[in-house]
Amino acid sequence: MKRSLFFILLACATLSSCSNKTESEDKSAEVDNTPLEEQAVFGTYQGNQVLEYKLTNQNGVEVKVINYGGIITSILTPNKEGVLEDIVLGYDTLSGYLKDSPYFGALIGRFGNRIANGRFELDGEVYVLAQNNNGQHLHGGLVGFDKVFWNIKELSSEDGSALELTYSSKDGEEGYPGELDVKVIYTLTDDNELMVEYEAETSKMTVVNLTQHTYFNLTGNVKGDILGHHLKLEADGFLPVDKSLIPTGEIRPVEGTPFDFLNEQVVGARINNNDQQLEYGMGYDHCWVLSAADSLKLAATLYEPTSGRLMEVFTIEPGIQFYSGNFLDGSLIGKDGVKYAHRTGLCLETQHFPDSPNQPQFPSVVLNPDEVYRSKSVYKFSVR
Ligand code: BGC
Repeated sequence: MKRSLFFILLACATLSSCSNKTESEDKSAEVDNTPLEEQAVFGTYQGNQVLEYKLTNQNGVEVKVINYGGIITSILTPNKEGVLEDIVLGYDTLSGYLKDSPYFGALIGRFGNRIANGRFELDGEVYVLAQNNNGQHLHGGLVGFDKVFWNIKELSSEDGSALELTYSSKDGEEGYPGELDVKVIYTLTDDNELMVEYEAETSKMTVVNLTQHTYFNLTGNVKGDILGHHLKLEADGFLPVDKSLIPTGEIRPVEGTPFDFLNEQVVGARINNNDQQLEYGMGYDHCWVLSAADSLKLAATLYEPTSGRLMEVFTIEPGIQFYSGNFLDGSLIGKDGVKYAHRTGLCLETQHFPDSPNQPQFPSVVLNPDEVYRSKSVYKFSVR
């Protein structure tokens, strides 16, 4: 494979998610490039081939990604006996993703999570978006970034082998203003880290909130639900929601509530408590407020005792949506014919707060034409 320049985005880790363009022009020299394995044809959609790319590292960890939706279709990691198994939900074939996928493994944009009534005002203009979720706008609309083709380029950096995904979202696409050029880099390191780096530039003032929607189940090959997983969230507050899962605007302390994950807790221990917020979410489906930081910080630790697998999530984002797979109901048959029953996968979506475009007290999601949006999250896999 031809050598290509790789933008080392480590600098981003120390920047806030929107920064002045001049700060982005920090490119570093390229390093030796080990050829990545050939990509396989995963299917055809709208006359285009959907290809599956594979990242591997020296420990046998493997991440597969397709150019439709930037979807992570599988992640193999070792359990405590060293057995490699798949820890994410998804499908064996493209048709599953096309037909019925609750965003399995996908890149989410232009705005991850909900925007109330699919409307917001920006610079004196009202923008109307699809109301694709009970009257609310969810995950970028009818054809969000999870349902588009991404250009993929294989890269190799000193951090590990990587895939660079790019997509240009048109001005007015799904109702959002400004043409948005988006770049996402997935890197797999030899320290068993999957790094996800996001960058975007716009032609007009717009709103951006990008995230990754992988459903994890650390038992390996989905041996059961996620209720026995242990979770720790580095957050002393969360965002209560109304019935439509739109934040009320309050940041509520987790102390004394089933939302307190400051110490490791079994996910299922309090999920059915008599609690209005759990009732609205049908379980956990909320954004936790992380302590502010300009560099990568630990946000979540997920541990599964039978396999010994542990996953740490680091991010520069101010929030993390913990969704406990409440809408999985056994109707989806996933990889290897496994039925995805209630709560067989959970998502830890690093992001800005839901409905931020309508809630000026939340950290801003506005991107101006002279700025670069940057975000970065790392999923680190190990065993305990
Ligand atoms: C949301 C859930 C939604 C799910 C769709 C999550 O990010 O928080 O409310 O149902 O995505 O799969």
